[in-house]
Amino acid sequence: MGIALVTGGTSGIGAEFARQLAARGDDLVLVARDRERLDAMAAELGALGRSVEVIVADLSREKDTGRVAERLADTTKPVDILINNAGYGLRTRLVRPDIAEHDDAYGVMLRAVWVLSAAVAPGMKERGHGAIVNVASIAGQLSMGAYSSIKAWVIAYSEGLANELHGSGVTVTALMPGWVRTEFHQRASIRAGSIPDSLWLDAPRLVRVSLRDVDRGRVISIPSVRYRLLSWLLRHLPRSTVRAVSRRISLSRSKAASD
Ligand SMILES: NC(=O)c1ccc[n+]([C@@H]2O[C@H](COP(=O)([O-])OP(=O)(O)OC[C@H]3O[C@@H](n4cnc5c(N)ncnc54)[C@H](OP(=O)(O)O)[C@@H]3O)[C@@H](O)[C@H]2O)c1
Repeated sequence: MGIALVTGGTSGIGAEFARQLAARGDDLVLVARDRERLDAMAAELGALGRSVEVIVADLSREKDTGRVAERLADTTKPVDILINNAGYGLRTRLVRPDIAEHDDAYGVMLRAVWVLSAAVAPGMKERGHGAIVNVASIAGQLSMGAYSSIKAWVIAYSEGLANELHGSGVTVTALMPGWVRTEFHQRASIRAGSIPDSLWLDAPRLVRVSLRDVDRGRVISIPSVRYRLLSWLLRHLPRSTVRAVSRRISLSRSKAASD
């Protein structure tokens, strides 16, 4: 029992982390942009007897990320588990002079992960315990534009941070989900209809298995046999084959290209 901070804790995977951590006895700090949804989630978890703080923050903005980092660095209310989960699908092409959308996505899924981990890790190290979970993706092993490059960074960063913290009592886990039924696809206008039923994961089970991996100190968590097999294949196939598969997936789910 302790305090858990979950970014993007109002929907999908993040909301499920918040629920399961609350059920385990943790108090919560929830971070997202939508105040109403944060308050609704706080009421739901509060009914379980947990104390819930909410921070309205847009993690694409450095100033907002800075406020969340300040909360994480506050040793009077130490955070024991940080879930860097906030994120979204990004299909904007790389060949485009205006990088504003990419910049926002890097802010939320890369820079915030770095800044928030760096804010919480020193205190955790001093206390000799703590866990940092960074939500990456199997897409990090593919080559589907900016999203893959960001998630590949999350995996590499998590492994590097795990090495730096090795032996300190603080664990770092990169969670690598495959397709999970959440608001993710609808928000990114991704046509999910072509994805076979057998490839979908459900968020409660994903989070249950990943929290078990976190408790065991696993650095990489892939909570499904199907996706563990796929991940193994992606590591062993020639990269030219991986790029060809990535092109096919991108094409099959793209709406008419707008640019
Ligand atoms: N679903 C999948 O198939 C899948 C697969 C692999 C990896 N993932 C990863 O899993 C993570 C969670 O995704 P999900 O599937 O649970 O999606 P989701 O249901 O759309 O939830 C996304 C959460 O992130 C928050 N968020 C989005 N932009 C934000 C911003 N700029 N600042 C702060 N919070 C922000 C949202 O709240 P607000 O909109 O209120 O800010 C929401 O709480 C993401 O990192 C995603 O890349 C998802």
